[in-house]
Amino acid sequence: MKDKSSYNTEMAQAYETNARISIPTYDALFGMVQSYFRAEISGEAASVLVVGAGGGQELSTWGPANPEWRFTGVDISAEMLKIAQHKTNQLDMANRVNLIHGTITDLPEADAAFDAASCILVLHFIDNVQEKLELLRSIHERMKPGAPFVLVSAYGDREGTELKDRLHVWRSFWLEAGRSTSIVNEMVNTGIMKISFLPEKQIEGLLQDSGFTHITKFFVTGLFGGWICQAGSNGADIECEV
Ligand SMILES: C[S@@+](CC[C@H](N)C(=O)[O-])C[C@H]1O[C@@H](n2cnc3c(N)ncnc32)[C@H](O)[C@@H]1O
Repeated sequence: MKDKSSYNTEMAQAYETNARISIPTYDALFGMVQSYFRAEISGEAASVLVVGAGGGQELSTWGPANPEWRFTGVDISAEMLKIAQHKTNQLDMANRVNLIHGTITDLPEADAAFDAASCILVLHFIDNVQEKLELLRSIHERMKPGAPFVLVSAYGDREGTELKDRLHVWRSFWLEAGRSTSIVNEMVNTGIMKISFLPEKQIEGLLQDSGFTHITKFFVTGLFGGWICQAGSNGADIECEV
């Protein structure tokens, strides 16, 4: 993580560009989440858990504007974490950012009382529903009661026309950005439709089964939706039904 020379500019640039084509409201999304966290967190200082911190967008948006916040970022991709580490160094935030290569279960036991947490554009990369639930539960277990959590994920019912219509909109973003029809068709068939979509009711059910309360959808762009919620008071007695 300390090897700055292995930072891959090309990959970082591709990520920066593609995220904003796929989600034209990408930058606004992080601004909205910051507003929500600032409204919900009491006091200036806060510890924020960022699941899927690779890319560094959470750190670079929320870090400079909130100098009292400390961040723990976890990501399974060493390459993506290099981007996050690079941004952290550029912003002179290394003293308040802890980046961990691995899953949430690799967090030290002591890290169990975060004031806020996010899991942005990660859940749809996990195919298994039980594993999605376990991730959300693990996040919940590490949060203070009442702390705000934001989940952003692809969602939709593959059998329904609503997802097909939103896919049509998503295709239009890429066509507008100059990609050819054949390239976009290939992206649909071999890329985006290979990720794991769940109907929004099922995503909300997973949040509920993980112990979160006050679950409210606050964001939609193209294929992606976002939910705000709060950690409930006790994650220990939760029933598992998915
Ligand atoms: C599309 S990127 C999103 C990065 C950042 N949250 C953003 O919105 O720009 C998804 C990231 O999630 C990471 N990821 C996927 N599954 C994960 C898991 N189970 N735990 C932690 N990170 C994961 C990937 O390695 C990747 O860096």
